[in-house]
Amino acid sequence: EGEVYRYYADGEWRVSASGKSVAIVNPTTRLTQYRVQACTQEEVNKVMETAKVAQKAWARTPLWKRAELLHKAAAILKEHKTPIAECLVKEIAKPAKDAISEVVRSGDLVSYTAEEGVRILGEGKLLVSDSFPGNERNKYCLSSKVPLGVVLAIPPFNYPVNLAVSKIGPALIAGNALVLKPPTQGAVAALHMVHCFHLAGFPKGLINCVTGKGSEIGDFLTMHPGVNCISFTGGDTGIAISKKAGMVPLQMELGGKDACVVLEDADLDLVAANIVKGGFSYSGQRCTAVKVVLIMESVADIVVEKVKAKLAKLTVGPPEADSDITPVVTESSANFIEGLVMDAKEKGATFCQEYRREGNLIWPLLLDHVRPDMRIAWEEPFGPVLPVIRINSVEEGIHHCNASNFGLQGCVFTKDINKAIMISDAMETGTVQINSAPARGPDHFPFQGLKDSGIGSQGITNSINMMTKVKSTVINLP
Ligand code: G3P
Repeated sequence: EGEVYRYYADGEWRVSASGKSVAIVNPTTRLTQYRVQACTQEEVNKVMETAKVAQKAWARTPLWKRAELLHKAAAILKEHKTPIAECLVKEIAKPAKDAISEVVRSGDLVSYTAEEGVRILGEGKLLVSDSFPGNERNKYCLSSKVPLGVVLAIPPFNYPVNLAVSKIGPALIAGNALVLKPPTQGAVAALHMVHCFHLAGFPKGLINCVTGKGSEIGDFLTMHPGVNCISFTGGDTGIAISKKAGMVPLQMELGGKDACVVLEDADLDLVAANIVKGGFSYSGQRCTAVKVVLIMESVADIVVEKVKAKLAKLTVGPPEADSDITPVVTESSANFIEGLVMDAKEKGATFCQEYRREGNLIWPLLLDHVRPDMRIAWEEPFGPVLPVIRINSVEEGIHHCNASNFGLQGCVFTKDINKAIMISDAMETGTVQINSAPARGPDHFPFQGLKDSGIGSQGITNSINMMTKVKSTVINLP
């Protein structure tokens, strides 16, 4: 404590004129771990101006040079994995090993983005006019992808580094400038990641990172006329942003209620392993976590027993010890989770373990015999508590999935590939995984949510395309 981390603008580390800072509370100790600058609206204005200027020059920088710098940043990022992971452990209580994996995965993502960018942006299109009725072959249309301008990137607390670079990489390779607003929990890890880009030697003003209170600069950023694209990952705030944002392309990923549908013929050991991994890794704080199990009654008892046995083996404790279950990110998050648990208890759910909480630490809990009148059947806890709903038909399962306001991913376990495909087709989600828990990665796969889960498709290739616009020049022959 004591030091206030600086924000990054115009290639320099700066102290805000506000004289104020924002505290980052360690979820484990519940004490202030770090402080970051509380930037002002005026400072945001400045950042937008410099980003705009830097972008113009960057768009003219050859693609291969842009790629070269990204490769350099990726390598530096990986070299800095230990101190960045340490921030993740302290700021968001991510288990130590997972924190390291997040940084390594981020380096790989940036390199892949550079590779993919030089391929797909190096290609354009040529159209000739005589395929459309009434035209001679006298018009040649040359189209290519050009940058949008300034991209505003807002990642969430659960992947402050990875979900930041999944926006930064595509934005930069495509020739855009970048303004990053990191989440409060995870801001120091994000600043450290930005430092790696700084060391790689990107031009001044091209990458900027402003920190501060959402109430002061949140709307101001998202409604800023200097912003040409918003890429946001997070919760409900995204819905508010998309209502207020101007006429700019939006990429939004806003959580989910991913269902795990288990049929009678499934490999039940595989099911149990995936329920535990899918529902409880990073204590359930992933938008792609398994958030409801929809299981055929005939196999439910066996699977519940198998999951119980596995949950009993999970370690619960501090992230420094690489515990499987660690404290959830904030006290209010823990209170929200507890609210869902208590509602289910009152309405008669079966608790497979005793409910236990100390501070922000919640022990893993499986809730059996959950019914649709319970909040936990529909709401996302973002914590280590998982409801099981017993079903008597596949249709009942699909009906529950599709009645959700979310539509991110889902998964189905069966050995019958025909049934699996039929269920995948029927599920109104962006992705369906067959015989594995939902997941965003590998990071070049398309990743998209329907309904309240988001707008647009991510994944490296889709994000690069999304952060460009088509520019055409038509040559008219006499
Ligand atoms: O919660 C963010 C979402 O993108 C999850 O990513 O890699 O845990 O599936 P992942």
